[in-house]
Amino acid sequence: MSTIRIAPSILSADFSKLGEEVRAIDEAGADWIHCDVMDGHFVPNITFGPDVLKAIRPHTKKFFDVHLMIAPVDPYVEAFAKAGADLISFHVEAGPHPHRTIQAIKAQGKQAGIVLNPGTPASAVEPLLDDLDLILLMTVNPGFGGQSFIHSVIDKIARVRALIGERPIALEIDGGATPETAPLAAKAGANVLVAGSAVFKGGPSAYAGNIAAIRKAA
Ligand code: DX5
Ligand code: ZN
Repeated sequence: MSTIRIAPSILSADFSKLGEEVRAIDEAGADWIHCDVMDGHFVPNITFGPDVLKAIRPHTKKFFDVHLMIAPVDPYVEAFAKAGADLISFHVEAGPHPHRTIQAIKAQGKQAGIVLNPGTPASAVEPLLDDLDLILLMTVNPGFGGQSFIHSVIDKIARVRALIGERPIALEIDGGATPETAPLAAKAGANVLVAGSAVFKGGPSAYAGNIAAIRKAA
């Protein structure tokens, strides 16, 4: 099993001081910075767009893992790439032409990921396997931080891990990750764990301990 990466979701950060928050999770040991983009259409919440991503980019050199919960996706790929995304992931449920979107992301020189909602079967990734850098399996229905981990996704993590085979594709989970649920996801084959509320609870002085607790449990 490869090393586990922890990707704190800034959805749970204090938005009034996002730059400081990003520096704090960087110093606290975050491997990646997970940026949740919501459009109030594909999901029932609105967060931020490329201008905010661009504003926080100078505050860390860490890998920006940008999770687009928007539809359509293609008109915004270039803006998020130019704003500083390292990897752009989008939902397979967001449109009928996922290969086209992957090509658009790669054309910007960025890594591409596909995201599956909890209700979408593992088989949805099969046609895309040779083009992906990351598969993100939602362990909550997207839209909000602080929801409970959906345990039925564990079997899907194992199925997708088997489909990936020897390909160099990261397998990420997102939603409800805690020191209790992280080991279940890791054991099933996930190697990138997104965590929002479990990292940001308790404020900046707690971030390092919170990240370490998830890492140790996984
Ligand atoms: C959910 C977002 C997640 C979320 C995770 O729609 O994609 O990244 O912020 O938050 P927690 O860890 O609190 O479930
Ligand atoms: Zn996310």
